[in-house]
Amino acid sequence: MRAIQATRFGGPEVLVPGEVPEPVAAPGQVVVEVSVAGITFVETQIRRGVDQWHDRPALPYVPGGTVAGHVGPVGEDVDPSWSGRRVIADVGETGGFAERAVAAVEDLIPVPDGLGLPEATALHTDGSTALGLVEGARILPGEWVLVEAAGGGVGTLLVQLARAAGARVVGAARGARKLDLVRELGADAAVDYSDPDWAARVRQVTGGAGPDVVFDGVGGTIGRAAFEVTAAGGRFSVHGASSGQMTEIDPALAHRRGVEVIGIEQLFGFGPKMRGWAEQVMSEAAAGRIRPIIGQTFPLERAADAHAAIESRSALGKTLLLI
Ligand SMILES: NC(=O)c1ccc[n+]([C@@H]2O[C@H](COP(=O)([O-])OP(=O)(O)OC[C@H]3O[C@@H](n4cnc5c(N)ncnc54)[C@H](OP(=O)(O)O)[C@@H]3O)[C@@H](O)[C@H]2O)c1
Repeated sequence: MRAIQATRFGGPEVLVPGEVPEPVAAPGQVVVEVSVAGITFVETQIRRGVDQWHDRPALPYVPGGTVAGHVGPVGEDVDPSWSGRRVIADVGETGGFAERAVAAVEDLIPVPDGLGLPEATALHTDGSTALGLVEGARILPGEWVLVEAAGGGVGTLLVQLARAAGARVVGAARGARKLDLVRELGADAAVDYSDPDWAARVRQVTGGAGPDVVFDGVGGTIGRAAFEVTAAGGRFSVHGASSGQMTEIDPALAHRRGVEVIGIEQLFGFGPKMRGWAEQVMSEAAAGRIRPIIGQTFPLERAADAHAAIESRSALGKTLLLI
């Protein structure tokens, strides 16, 4: 079958199309006929060999951790009624950029009628993660929330979920296209953090006090500046480091400022809750209450271009492969 393989660690060009053996479902597994493969930012860091949070895959590897499609052949002990159902599946860290992928039956989530497979893929895992972050930050109606990388996969959903929780939202991102999108999603303000005075602008927009909640997925100087403007008594929630550098906050300083830091470790506790969050976020989307933003799609053969779009920061919302 056709698949994309990373032949070594490096730039997007290490992703090359080719043929790999057909996967076979072992007991407790199914084969998914893949229609859509999701891509997350961290998968570009894994491919580059710079990610610190996941085991390095053995080379060569087929990238892609999330697929959507129809269930094909099922393994021994699997209820045959799964065959033909529309599902989203976590396939682990690898294996998704292919015509078929194997998943454990407990990692299948049925896609509700009325929701397309691309939309379901855009919502899982970004939407499940965003829902978990919003729950963890305990947003109160009327609070100000700052979302970094607000035009990205997780960011566009954080903006919508924070608004739905009754917050006033400042979306921060780079460039006019992303800021227009952030406003269109209902943010009360959109700020460009490539402007050196961006944090002062956030403070001004929030009436001088700063945001009560910050969602930091960027880290580096942007994450640091966002911490500096977090309101006394606020929550600073860390979920990633797309800049390459995690925001490190001295606990004594956070204590003095009265800011609760909800560290990246929060993600480790998400695992058992992801299925429930995925179902919740998909039914919210099927009901039209939130909108997955699919900014660009690529055919399987152009996986390298898809990764390049994400890394070059030109991608809006979610980037998907259509197979
Ligand atoms: N997707 C998930 O399920 C998931 C789960 C757990 C954690 N996370 C974390 O959440 C964050 C967002 O993930 P995502 O998959 O939704 O990615 P994304 O937001 O779609 O893409 C990353 C964004 O980071 C911003 N950025 C800032 N500095 C950057 C730099 N130096 N290089 C590249 N990008 C930079 C870019 O937006 P601007 O150009 O607007 O700055 C870019 O759009 C990441 O830190 C990721 O590790 C994601």
